[in-house]
This record gives sequence, structure tokens and C-alpha cells, in this order.
Amino acid sequence: MICEQTHHSHPKQPERVHRTGNRLFILRQPSDRDGRPVSELVARCPPLDVNSLYANLLQCTHFSDTSVVAEDENGKPAGFVPAYRLPSLPHTLFVWQVAVDPQARGLGVGLSMLESLLERLVPRGVRFLETTISPKNAASQALFLKLFSRYRVAFTTRLLFSGDDHFGGKHDDEELYHAGPFFESGPWKRQEKS
Ligand SMILES: CC(C)(COP(=O)(O)OP(=O)(O)OC[C@H]1O[C@@H](n2cnc3c(N)ncnc32)[C@H](O)[C@@H]1OP(=O)(O)O)[C@@H](O)C(=O)NCCC(=O)NCCS
Repeated sequence: MICEQTHHSHPKQPERVHRTGNRLFILRQPSDRDGRPVSELVARCPPLDVNSLYANLLQCTHFSDTSVVAEDENGKPAGFVPAYRLPSLPHTLFVWQVAVDPQARGLGVGLSMLESLLERLVPRGVRFLETTISPKNAASQALFLKLFSRYRVAFTTRLLFSGDDHFGGKHDDEELYHAGPFFESGPWKRQEKS
């Protein structure tokens, strides 16, 4: 019998250390143990949609290779970016959410998590990044525009899910941002200063 191991209970290796002032965050892939704390983290981050704990557990296991958590000094997730490759376009990374604990905002954790995902995945063939942002979410727009400008990539936007049609008037529009191409070297490589 072929028994495929799908249980990921080992802590993942640190990928990046983000230091700022007297704070220190360890960035790494999530594992199943992160499911519950990231679900609580997302609940502290309106206007993000909360998902079921089961969905967060799937993000932390099936999508661990393409997602990142930022652990604080107490070992608690203070940041989480669940993301996945589009099933029919695997060169495209779709960023589902960016959540940073209110206590850890404005310290570069959100940007650092996105950069760490690109550092991990561009060498593995990711060339485009997509996400959706509602027009009212200025912080999220500014965060992604800063990321795109650091990597000097072009981006386009279009309405993906309409507040009225898709969400029945219960949610804002969600605009799709499509950015790239990202390469390992060349003028598109991240600029240290911007
Ligand atoms: C949006 C969010 C993820 C930003 O995380 P963060 O760690 O505080 O962001 P960073 O410190 O990495 O900021 C990087 C850049 O993003 C932009 N930015 C971040 N927060 C901002 C804000 N409140 N207003 C305007 N711009 C903002 C700035 O350009 C900033 O660069 P700067 O500090 O040099 O000006 C965080 O505020 C959050 O979790 N918000 C609630 C959930 C949400 O809306 N998520 C995004 C939708 S998926």
C-alpha cells in the first residue's frame, strides 16, 4: 500500500529575520500548528474576511509551500499571508490575504512577508503576483504598490468580484491587481532602497 504523508506537524525552518527597533520577527512557512493562531490573528484584522478554522488549517498545510507566517518574540504569529499558485496558471501566485496584528503594524512586517514569498518562489518559477483589494483599502493598496515599485514591475487592475453582483451588496468590490513579470535577476530584481 502506498501511504502518502500529508501531516505537517514539524515546525518549519526560519526563512528570514525581520528586525526593526526592539522588535524581531521570524518569517517561515506555516504548519498545521499555526492554523488556530492564524485564524485568531485574521479575526483581529478587520476588514479581512474571516474564514473557517478548517480553511485556515488547509492554508497552513496544503498551501504551506506558498504561504508565510511572521512569528513574534513570543513565538506567536503576528503576520500571515496565505497564498497559492493558480491551479491553471502555476506561474501566478495569488495572495489571498495579508494580515498583520494591530500591535505589529507599521514595522514593515507586511512588506517583508511579501518579499519573503517572492524570494522563495521566484526561483521556483513564479513570474506573476495577483491579489484583490477593495477600493476603500488604502493601506493594502499602498502596501502592494510599494512592493511592485521595489521590484520595478508593471501592474494592471480590473474589477474581479462586484460588490453588487457577486456579493449581493454585502461586501465591497474586489479589484484584481496583476503584477509582473518577476525574475531572479535583471532590472526587475528588488531594489534595496525606494
Ligand atoms: C495592510 C496591512 C497588512 C499592512 O501591514 P504592515 O505590516 O503594517 O505594513 P508595512 O509596515 O509593511 O508597510 C509597508 C508599506 O505599506 C503601506 N502602508 C501600510 N500601512 C498603511 C496604512 N495604514 N496607510 C497607508 N499606507 C500603509 C506604506 O506604503 C508602507 O510603507 P512605509 O511604511 O514606508 O510608508 C495591515 O495594516 C493589516 O493587516 N491591515 C488589516 C488587514 C488588511 O486590510 N489587509 C490587507 C488586505 S488583504
